[in-house]
Amino acid sequence: MFTPDEAGAAPTGVVIDVIRATSTICQALASGYQRVFCAPEVDEARALRDALGDGVLGGERHAVPIPGFDLGNSPREYLEPAGSTLILSTTNGTRAVVVAAQRCERVLVASLLNLDSVVNAVREAGDDAVVVCAGVQGTMNLDDTFVAGRIVELLGWECTDAADAAARLVGTWSGAEEAFRASKSGRNLLENAPHLEADIAFCARESVLDVVPRLVGMRDGAAEISL
Ligand code: MLT
Repeated sequence: MFTPDEAGAAPTGVVIDVIRATSTICQALASGYQRVFCAPEVDEARALRDALGDGVLGGERHAVPIPGFDLGNSPREYLEPAGSTLILSTTNGTRAVVVAAQRCERVLVASLLNLDSVVNAVREAGDDAVVVCAGVQGTMNLDDTFVAGRIVELLGWECTDAADAAARLVGTWSGAEEAFRASKSGRNLLENAPHLEADIAFCARESVLDVVPRLVGMRDGAAEISL
């Protein structure tokens, strides 16, 4: 699925928002956060923190941090845990996780950072899988499609034409960073938050984290993700 709004379902769902929500989720859990709640809306994130009585609020709208939140959505802000619970709300990524939770029996969170680990987990699960790209506000983007293509390449499974197209696209770039810079998500980040340009190279590193974030449940409209 190039966007969460496309028809598609399978027992295993693999969600990608590589710039930057799923990279941030992978990094936060690898750094020591115990759980990440993915809240589609800003108000839902605030309400959830009130209900939990605790939690680090993180996220972005238009690539910049949300007023009153503790942290933004740069994975480089999550190299050290600032608490045990992260409540994250981002423009596209957190909603994609919630959509996958509605359609799939198990949901795995993928980025380039944890590519090998997530592909191995899909193989181990053994069932059919759907890769859900977050896209950009209902449209396909090149950065998530690149990562989807790498997953399809590594799995080597029988696949849909959409999955085949994603895999074929990978070879048109010299590498992930070039694809990410050319993508709508990358251009949005560079336009709205040029000081965060280093996030692109950070997110373009492949298989540097051995984590497989998974959906463990839903609470107040937010998807709870843990290792
Ligand atoms: C998103 O959810 O669309 C991304 O997190 C955007 C971003 O990181 O700036």
